Amino acid sequence: MEKCNGENKREGKLKKKVAVAGGAGFIGSHLAKSLKDDGGYYVVVGDWKENDFMHWTDFCHQFFLLDLRDMANCIKLTEGCSEVYMLAADMGGMGFIKSNQSVLMFNNTLISTNMLESARRHLHTVNRYFYASSACVYNEHKQMETTNPGLKESDAWPAKPQDTYGLEKLYSEEMGLAYMRDFGLQFRCARFHNVYGPKGSWKGGREKAPPAFCRKAICSETEFEMWGDGEQTRSFIYIDDCVTGIRKIMDCPDLDVPVNLGSSEMITMNGFAKLALDLCGKSNLPIKHIEGPVGVRGRNSDNTLIKEKLNWEPKVRLAEGMKETMRWIKCEIERELESGKVQDLSRYCSSRVVAQTTDSLDQLLVKTNEDKASL
Ligand code: NAD
Ligand code: GDD
Repeated sequence: MEKCNGENKREGKLKKKVAVAGGAGFIGSHLAKSLKDDGGYYVVVGDWKENDFMHWTDFCHQFFLLDLRDMANCIKLTEGCSEVYMLAADMGGMGFIKSNQSVLMFNNTLISTNMLESARRHLHTVNRYFYASSACVYNEHKQMETTNPGLKESDAWPAKPQDTYGLEKLYSEEMGLAYMRDFGLQFRCARFHNVYGPKGSWKGGREKAPPAFCRKAICSETEFEMWGDGEQTRSFIYIDDCVTGIRKIMDCPDLDVPVNLGSSEMITMNGFAKLALDLCGKSNLPIKHIEGPVGVRGRNSDNTLIKEKLNWEPKVRLAEGMKETMRWIKCEIERELESGKVQDLSRYCSSRVVAQTTDSLDQLLVKTNEDKASL
């Protein structure tokens, strides 16, 4: 699996070397690109797959195709870095996290613990470590009503996180905080609240509501399918705000506790579907409610802490961000139609639930056996 596709030169200039784990993913690739475009960073990305929409040279200086469940690979990725951004995870929206509880827990626990320990091994160079946590850490009992007033950071404890996905995030937050106390690693952590925008998954089952709603609004002609009664509420943060937030949190000298990184513009899923349909000129299409994984009843971000610490909060309005996302997904669908990859758009009117398989677990075992055999 381990394969280096990268160049090794530093372009002759003195740049801060930083690692982005999971940097071929949606948020990681946008973050890596922002750091690369900044000019002051030499950006190294590690991921076990390539980015679906950009060539690696568009968003980083060096790309390692690595399985980050293996600590040796994490050590290789973080070598010589002054900052580490940890965004790798086996993840997705409700069509994935609910039906893949065991496999994602195994994979994410290994990635999170190995990455953190690798940063400790490189403490002589690593100054700061960023961990991408989630609103799924919050106590489910605080999310039983559609009228959620906004989750405060303190609402994570006492703990009853959403699914094994949220539990692993909460555990990894605590591990990072312990490493900060015990070893002096400067740990930074943001709890993302449903991030959306161009160049993210929009089909296949891992996609979250924003791209799923764009795809369904574009492709549906008679009705709009929706999991649940549509009264459930969420807030969504646009990718540009998310990247700005990560960089501000990382640069902040005293933000050493997990902080919400989310919008406080809450909306029902029925209202959200209407917004997507309006953008496609299909305002009158009826919503058909079907069984599906719905998650918590109501969720919103309380931004008191981030405003106090950074004098900043996410700015992009949902209607504005969705316009950009819709535009990009329309282009993707047109491209698929033109190339003949897809002929019948009816398959895009429904969302899939991803069934759990043990493929990724078995892959790790095979590799270990191969390593032993070569000794
Ligand atoms: P993503 O799936 O697009 O990116 C995650 C990346 O991690 C992928 O490219 C994947 O290939 C990589 N990865 C997974 N397992 C790996 C392994 N064993 N070795 C190497 N790479 C591996 O997801 P994203 O939306 O960009 O999310 C980034 C981070 O933010 C994740 O930690 C996620 O849990 C967290 N998060 C995201 C959201 C959101 O709304 N997108 C919300 C809360 C938290
Ligand atoms: N994904 C998706 N696709 N969701 C749909 C659909 C659909 O076609 N139709 C309705 N929904 C509803 C879901 O049932 C859920 O109630 C709501 O839209 C939002 O779904 P998601 O965007 O998939 O996930 P989430 O907001 O419940 O949780 C996500 O956000 C967390 C951070 O806030 C997940 O992606 C988590 O992994 C993430 O950490």
